[in-house]
Amino acid sequence: MRSARSVIEAVDKTKYEVVPIAITKEGNWLGPAAAAKLLPEEVQRKLSANALNTKTKEVAILGDPSRHGLMKLDTGDQTTETLDVVFPVLHGTYGEDGTLQGLLEMAAIPFVGCGTLASACGMDKVTMKALFREAGLPICAHTWFLRAEWEGDPNKVTRRVIREIGFPCFVKPANLGSSVGVSKTSDKASFAKAVDLAARYDRKIIVEELVDGREIECAVMGNDEPQASLPGEYVIHEESARFLDYTEKYSSTGNVEFIVPAHISKSVIRKIQSMAAKAYKAIDASGLSRVDFFLKKDGELLVNEINTLPGLTDVSGFPKMWEATGIPFTRVIDQLIQFALERHRERSRNETSI
Ligand SMILES: Nc1ncnc2c1ncn2[C@@H]1O[C@H](COP(=O)(O)OP(=O)(O)O)[C@@H](O)[C@H]1O
Ligand SMILES: [Mg+2]
Repeated sequence: MRSARSVIEAVDKTKYEVVPIAITKEGNWLGPAAAAKLLPEEVQRKLSANALNTKTKEVAILGDPSRHGLMKLDTGDQTTETLDVVFPVLHGTYGEDGTLQGLLEMAAIPFVGCGTLASACGMDKVTMKALFREAGLPICAHTWFLRAEWEGDPNKVTRRVIREIGFPCFVKPANLGSSVGVSKTSDKASFAKAVDLAARYDRKIIVEELVDGREIECAVMGNDEPQASLPGEYVIHEESARFLDYTEKYSSTGNVEFIVPAHISKSVIRKIQSMAAKAYKAIDASGLSRVDFFLKKDGELLVNEINTLPGLTDVSGFPKMWEATGIPFTRVIDQLIQFALERHRERSRNETSI
């Protein structure tokens, strides 16, 4: 919601008309008027009356490309409203993992950001790391197992993790984000607790060596020739903040600060930018992504992860890094929409029947 709000506020309204659509936690799609009500009043006022006049409460996008837009479910005539481009401002499962992207690809509606493949690969930390390794990018030592293996024989899994990674280590659900289900563990007991937590969120669990390093991020935009921004850094001020967990990321505790550009040398900046573009290409990303790094004391850089739908709130790294690079958020959004249309044209060239 916070990301959607800042996109709606920043988008050039002389060029684009925003039609808000919301998806509830239960998965119901809300039409523009109902979706707008979820936004603060001052933001609602920035939406055009035309968009809000669509009183339909229940809407859907069908995979049928001849519909080409938003289908109104609660009007008897079942009309559709054409959408020129969809900007999925959704983080995590069903928003960032390729499922929504698959629907939009079937419907042949241009959309901002990565396609199905890149979204799914960027969401699954095991697959993402395999692609990074394949591209020659440095990553931390890690291993993974299935929830079913853990439930079948936890001692066997623990022995393997100790042999391959050892303590301390990080335990995470393979598919998620925002640090949900992520724990730092130091012994068998904390490891078991961490796996039980991660297993609530995914059937696949990844374990990584603990990396002691600065957390640097880099924003990337573009299709076949992606451009990287100036990197930023999450600086943790208080020792009590053990790592960037959900609270530290989103509740402005004052413990962490995002500094852009990061205080690093020009040569490290260039290295980060080239690694970020390489990571982007490794998963076949398009539109936008944010690539996160660890910078170790000895100068070694590791790619931690790529986020195909990074936070777009007023305090998020992605808009801030472009701002510092000289591209204000309004122009970033405009470029993202242009990349969406360009990618759609490129995809439309493919023959789909023989
Ligand atoms: N291997 C690791 N070593 C040290 N800290 C880590 C490691 N993995 C994750 N963290 C910490 O946990 C945070 C969240 O992990 P991350 O892999 O970025 O998952 P998410 O997709 O949830 O953001 C990171 O920003 C970092 O602070
Ligand atoms: Mg992260």
